[in-house]
Amino acid sequence: MSDKLIIFDTTLRDGEQSPGASMTKDEKIRIAKALEKMRVDVIEAGFPIASPGDFDAVQTVANIIKDSSVCGLARALDKDIDRVAEALKGAASARIHTFIATSPIHMENKLRMSPDQVLEQAVRAVKRARQYTDNVEFSPEDAGRSETDFLCRIIEAVIDAGAGTINIPDTVGYTLPAHFGKLIAELRERIPNSDKAIFSVHCHNDLGLAVANSLAAVINGARQVECTINGLGERAGNAALEEVVMAVRTRRDVFSCETDLDTTQIVNCSRLVSNITGFPVQPNKAIVGANAFAHEAGIHQDGVLKHRQTYEIMRAEDVGWRANRMVLGKHSGRNAFRQHLKKLGIEFGSEEQLNAAFARFKELADKKHEIYDEDLQALVTDTKTRENERIKLVALRVCSEMGETPHANVTISIDGVENSVGASGSGPVDATFKAIKALVDSNANLLVYSVNNITDGSDAQGEVGVRLEKEGQIVNGQGADTDIVIASAKAYLNALNRILTPVERKHPQAARQV
Ligand code: KIV
Ligand code: ZN
Repeated sequence: MSDKLIIFDTTLRDGEQSPGASMTKDEKIRIAKALEKMRVDVIEAGFPIASPGDFDAVQTVANIIKDSSVCGLARALDKDIDRVAEALKGAASARIHTFIATSPIHMENKLRMSPDQVLEQAVRAVKRARQYTDNVEFSPEDAGRSETDFLCRIIEAVIDAGAGTINIPDTVGYTLPAHFGKLIAELRERIPNSDKAIFSVHCHNDLGLAVANSLAAVINGARQVECTINGLGERAGNAALEEVVMAVRTRRDVFSCETDLDTTQIVNCSRLVSNITGFPVQPNKAIVGANAFAHEAGIHQDGVLKHRQTYEIMRAEDVGWRANRMVLGKHSGRNAFRQHLKKLGIEFGSEEQLNAAFARFKELADKKHEIYDEDLQALVTDTKTRENERIKLVALRVCSEMGETPHANVTISIDGVENSVGASGSGPVDATFKAIKALVDSNANLLVYSVNNITDGSDAQGEVGVRLEKEGQIVNGQGADTDIVIASAKAYLNALNRILTPVERKHPQAARQV
């Protein structure tokens, strides 16, 4: 009998801490539903004390999700813990995750607390969380750089105080697989009450080792892995869920544990997260990259055709490539459209919203023969994103001719007031952006511009991502259209809209815990 490996997804919390990856409540709900469908065990939905918006999102996810536990993050402070408990009141299964830093560098410089004070605060926090639920997780932040003796001491104390899950974070992605694996083995061995808790790991990818470290920990007895879809997360990101899950599944000979995940949902989740956050998936990314199962070289193709296992260790369909694709076309009616969206976990708050999306679907179906799930996801994101925008694209006319300087005429409305301008540029996108800049004097710098095709074929929609920076604030904007210049204009305006409406929120790991 092999053990169960608990999959704890933190896309909605640590993933969202990635600069520019902030999500709306509605987007979080869509991702949470997709994670639930994939049978993720625990969904960390956010950090409720960060802002009223974060609280609301965690509360709504907690009220909707029934098959996964919903978790909220709290510093080791009463006010944080009480806020999480309040947000999770309606959850079918709730978990409170509380943390405090334990490395010398964090305790001395960030917390300005002695190890004994940190230990006392950790125990107090766990006891407080236990007043609300039996399901309490404790993390010694920056465990990867903490002293093992102190880790043993604090972990023993918080297990005694009632923490059922002990999560060991490699907060800054500093550890190496052999060392991290050994750390987990040592903690389990040395802590007298270690058998009373499940050991978990939470690895960051600063040295590109998040998945390797997580797997080394699993080999050494960790039975929960914290991870994110596409490896999204603070800085270089977290361990990628899809890689951890497929490694454990593919190498059953090495791991004496299994996950309950429906792996055929992986590609769908990956696309959804990429579409919502505007973080593209690189083509050579393991499991979910467009080339992950493509065999280019003739010799490989020959081998795969004769016997697929010559070059394939996993089946593309097992992670959701080419699976369950639903196709709609220009003759599909409103009901079929609604039903397809429902199967994708998408619902609209009102009939008007559904009608607006259906009108966009009809427009798209006129341009594109077959509409796939990915098209629908992008269309819905696009429709919902634009609903509350102050700056809207009204018209765009681009002239691009070989040997001539491209020119764009753009009309936008700002709070309902329309203005137009023309500009030239090195290409049609550059001309369009220059025209927009002339209309909206934002002083923002363009950091990233990317275009990806959503589906195959030259009639595919292009998904454009734009990242802007202004005075340290970083935002991402997305736009999708079969015309990539229009998609680019939408993405740029989307990012500008976010710059104009900054959201004030606390970062869980930035502040001193007092
Ligand atoms: O990276 C980290 O240490 C975290 C903790 C809050 C678990 O995200
Ligand atoms: Zn983290």
